[in-house]
Amino acid sequence: MYDDGHLNLLSHDSFAGGIPHKTFARMRKEDPVSWTEGDSETKGFWSLTRFDDIMLANREGAIFSSAQGIRLEDQSQEEYLARRTFQETDGQEHFAVRRKVNPSFAKPVVGQFEEVIRSLATDIVDEALKKSEFDAVDAIAKQLPMMMLGRILGVPDDDLEWLVEKGDALIGNTDPDFTDHVIDKMDTSAYRMMPFRSPAGVELYDYADDLLTKRRTVTEGGILARMMSSEDGLDELGFKNFFCLLVAAGNDTTRYSIAMALNLLAHNPALIAQLREGNCWDTCADEFIRLASPTMHFRRTATQDYELHGKTIREGDKVLLWFVSGSRDETVFDKPNDAVLDRLPNRHLAFGQGGAHVCLGMHLAKLEVRIVLEELVKRIDTFEAVDEPTWTRSNFISGVKRLNVRAKAV
Ligand code: HEM
Repeated sequence: MYDDGHLNLLSHDSFAGGIPHKTFARMRKEDPVSWTEGDSETKGFWSLTRFDDIMLANREGAIFSSAQGIRLEDQSQEEYLARRTFQETDGQEHFAVRRKVNPSFAKPVVGQFEEVIRSLATDIVDEALKKSEFDAVDAIAKQLPMMMLGRILGVPDDDLEWLVEKGDALIGNTDPDFTDHVIDKMDTSAYRMMPFRSPAGVELYDYADDLLTKRRTVTEGGILARMMSSEDGLDELGFKNFFCLLVAAGNDTTRYSIAMALNLLAHNPALIAQLREGNCWDTCADEFIRLASPTMHFRRTATQDYELHGKTIREGDKVLLWFVSGSRDETVFDKPNDAVLDRLPNRHLAFGQGGAHVCLGMHLAKLEVRIVLEELVKRIDTFEAVDEPTWTRSNFISGVKRLNVRAKAV
């Protein structure tokens, strides 16, 4: 879709041709606290698009609360309680669960996966390069996060394709390529108590039930085993929702970050050459993730009236923190739309930095992005796009979902 700088952020179609950066740039400049009218399904909402304002709202978790939902969809209290994870809680309630899950995602713990990731990445790239033309999202970007999800959770490889398909249907619930139940095109009220209001949520709940009742087993030491244990564990509904959160959050986001990197490389051989020089491996993953910013926003709800840039956000109003826009704020980032692979510092907001909910999986995601690119650039002589990529239809999750490339192995 042509971005005239005034696209409606409520419409998923505004994002179907890629992220509307012109619209965000105009909003940052002219209308940083911007109101979008709702429709019959969804109430109106505020958008924060500047880096400093997003940081402020993220810091002030008591005023900008996560505990009434974190996506744009309006939920009744009953729906909220049935579907929430610790991501949809505040303060001590949030901290109590975060403390339990945090150790599994700490940098040194994730660092122990480096060899496994490299071995998987090597196989994935070798397999992809057996063909001279292929869809790089499907053959490369999708594969590594999927395989790693299995290792993090502790579930068998045979289940992964299925889990990822269901995770795609959850998070891609507005895109007909990922679900038959497109949320803004049909009545999905039958699934209103399920994660992402999706029938895939029912199937993932059943899978989680099987884990709990030991009809399926998980690997000792995996995060699910820990969350099922009596000391550290979550209650049944908490476990099922946590499981769905990981299947959704741990997968597409990293896929779309790798896909963004591949898209840029396939259009710009100078970036491949720069990676080959080897001076920017410590910084490039953050830069690709900044540019991708796959979870474009998360929502908060104001718990009191709040004045910002001359506008009054009313208690109960929904406020979207557009991380995707803050990460390209020209007052913070030099050349915000360019891939500056050695950018340092890189204070992007793609992981929701600056608040209590900062992404748990960030170290894992960065490691995956870096290693798969290291293994790719070693093995390619040329790597070029053969047509234009296609993008997710969603105002929540953004990413290249198909990238046909022609590649020559060295
Ligand atoms: C490049 C990849 C990723 C991106 C861009 C990303 C983005 C984000 C963002 C923006 C948040 C903050 C949510 C908020 O403010 O409400 C978040 C939270 C979270 N992420 Fe990620 N994520 C990525 C990868 C992962 C992975 C690989 C996992 C797990 C395997 C994961 C698990 C989580 C969890 C559990 C939370 C909730 C944390 C909390 O509420 O305390 N993410 N992520």
